[in-house]
Amino acid sequence: MSTETQLDTDPCILTRHINESGRKAGGTGELSQLLNSICTAVKAISAAVRRAGIANLYGISGTENATGDQQKKLDVLANDLMVNLLRSSYSTCLMVSEENDNVVEVDLKKHGKYIVTFDPLDGSSNIDCLVSIGTIFGIFKKASDGPPTAADALQPGNNLVAAGYALYGSATVIVIATELSVDMFMLDPSIGEFILTQKDIKIKKKGKYFSINEGYTKYWDPAIKEYVDRKKFPQDGGKPYNARYIGSMVADVHRTLVYGGVFAYPAHSQSPNGKLRLLYEAGPMAYVLERAGGKATTGHQRIMDIVPENIHQRVPVFLGSPDDVDEYLEIVKKHKNYVANEK
Ligand code: AHG
Ligand code: MN
Ligand code: MN
Repeated sequence: MSTETQLDTDPCILTRHINESGRKAGGTGELSQLLNSICTAVKAISAAVRRAGIANLYGISGTENATGDQQKKLDVLANDLMVNLLRSSYSTCLMVSEENDNVVEVDLKKHGKYIVTFDPLDGSSNIDCLVSIGTIFGIFKKASDGPPTAADALQPGNNLVAAGYALYGSATVIVIATELSVDMFMLDPSIGEFILTQKDIKIKKKGKYFSINEGYTKYWDPAIKEYVDRKKFPQDGGKPYNARYIGSMVADVHRTLVYGGVFAYPAHSQSPNGKLRLLYEAGPMAYVLERAGGKATTGHQRIMDIVPENIHQRVPVFLGSPDDVDEYLEIVKKHKNYVANEK
């Protein structure tokens, strides 16, 4: 068998794909510029992640972010890269980052029409032990006239123009969802470009995996307890689901998209809104999953329908293959009289 590598001399690289889709949609090129900047930031973050151990980038930075989490050096570096590259893309007027208490404003001279929300480095607790981490982003259009304010960022997922994530795993991958499709690009480090590897991704109707932090079982409500129980002890006597939980939302959601099944970070008695943030974690991931044919809910509401009240708002998350999510929603209905925190 030949081990010779076949070189594609006409590869569909991410920038080409973005430019071609932009042309087809008859756009001004501003969204293409924005996506290209995110792609450059992701390449730089990926390079930093790969060199972190030798470049002294592990460990904490000594500061706390907007929601009180301790910032790691890589969190700060990834945030600076996202903010600076987006700012200089002339395509955005306002940003919301997990790492900034307030919205990040852009100089009027550099204004574009988009608002970008992002988690520059997701899964920080996994950085120092070399487990997969990622970057999540959502793109909205500024809807009002006049100078941008925080209120302009408080838009529901239904208004997203595009969203996606990068996963720094055994390879670096970027998944971009737009009105048109959900597409996956793999970073070829030898040429420094993202190559289209899967077009128009669709999630399985039903999967074989469930992904949740079972350490919190004590705090769960009856619906989530019953759901997980059914996965472990199927009522039809069939095979149980496989449990997988990485603790980086990007990695857990990516596996869910590729293999099917569900990922959940539900509300529990100690954390009534769960942990994940609507604008830059739950919302963009709900958009990606729905565009791929999946579902994303809090258990009581479609995540994409929620109008944020503040930029760092948390929401319970249950997302994945449509049949699996529907099964959970049926169980929630059954327990509809349960009152949270009832003892
Ligand atoms: P971040 O590192 O951006 O703060 O996000 C971590 C999040 C998310 O990636 C993951 O799903 C979740 O935290 C894991 O939390 P638990 O340790 O409570 O399971
Ligand atoms: Mn995160
Ligand atoms: Mn983060």
